[in-house]
Amino acid sequence: MTTVLITGASSGIGEAFAELFAKQNYKIILAARNESKLNTVANKLQRKHGVQTLICPVNLAQSDGAQLLYDHLQGEPVDILINNAGIGSFGFLHEMDTQSEQEMLQLNVQSLSHLLMLFLPHMVRRGSGRILNVGSTTSFYPCPLSANYSASKAFVLSLTEAVASELQGTGVTVTALCPGATGTAFFRNAKMEGQKVSDPKSLMSPDKVAQIGYNALMRGKVVVVPGMQNWLLSQAPRLFSRKFVTRITRSVLERKR
Ligand SMILES: NC(=O)c1ccc[n+]([C@@H]2O[C@H](COP(=O)([O-])OP(=O)(O)OC[C@H]3O[C@@H](n4cnc5c(N)ncnc54)[C@H](OP(=O)(O)O)[C@@H]3O)[C@@H](O)[C@H]2O)c1
Repeated sequence: MTTVLITGASSGIGEAFAELFAKQNYKIILAARNESKLNTVANKLQRKHGVQTLICPVNLAQSDGAQLLYDHLQGEPVDILINNAGIGSFGFLHEMDTQSEQEMLQLNVQSLSHLLMLFLPHMVRRGSGRILNVGSTTSFYPCPLSANYSASKAFVLSLTEAVASELQGTGVTVTALCPGATGTAFFRNAKMEGQKVSDPKSLMSPDKVAQIGYNALMRGKVVVVPGMQNWLLSQAPRLFSRKFVTRITRSVLERKR
């Protein structure tokens, strides 16, 4: 049986990934903080698809979160890792709560990299495995008012591209999925609901994002940006100076609905 571990599987893009893998009869390991939400998702997958599930309640914003998750699995082989759990934040860095920002970086950067490093050696030894790291269109440019968040997602893209090169010929692949604005709890949790960027009319569905990510993962693509508009958004900064791009992203993020 093929096993997939999905972090941030209790809602949004992670939950949509779980549904896709369940349709293909994978054993699904679901990780996030909220145990009752994880149980709800697991029960739904069992009922609809008859798949085996395992839930792992864990806080990946803690420095030992990734290790606790790994230890909890007690050597269970993981064929596919979906490194999806992540949060955003909004505001001027000098006004932000230091602890919340550090926890976000622990989750979006440190734990993502730690999980990769815990599971990758097993995959390389077996000569097979797939990893998907969730970045963002903000992986491609700096975002004032989301400074730590956009920097964390730039890390995800850079890490993925570098490791993908190292893995050539090993049978293991790593993919960065870089979505644009998506209709999940993300904007509400990041306190960005009134911003133009979170306008419900312009959001892609999490199901569509996950399907595009799934297809790219299975083909072993290194980077995928869902949707033509988002792809243009990710590539356009290459045509302009970084100073100009930073000015534009700031004005977009400041715009209210
Ligand atoms: N939505 C967008 O517009 C958008 C755009 C680009 C990239 N992304 C990226 O997509 C990924 C998924 O986000 P989403 O849009 O699906 O948002 P979401 O619906 O809020 O999902 C976030 C998931 O991460 C989990 N999570 C949050 N904090 C955690 C922690 N400390 N430890 C473990 N799990 C934690 C949440 O579960 P619990 O609360 O139960 O822990 C939830 O399952 C993130 O990496 C995000 O940066 C989103």
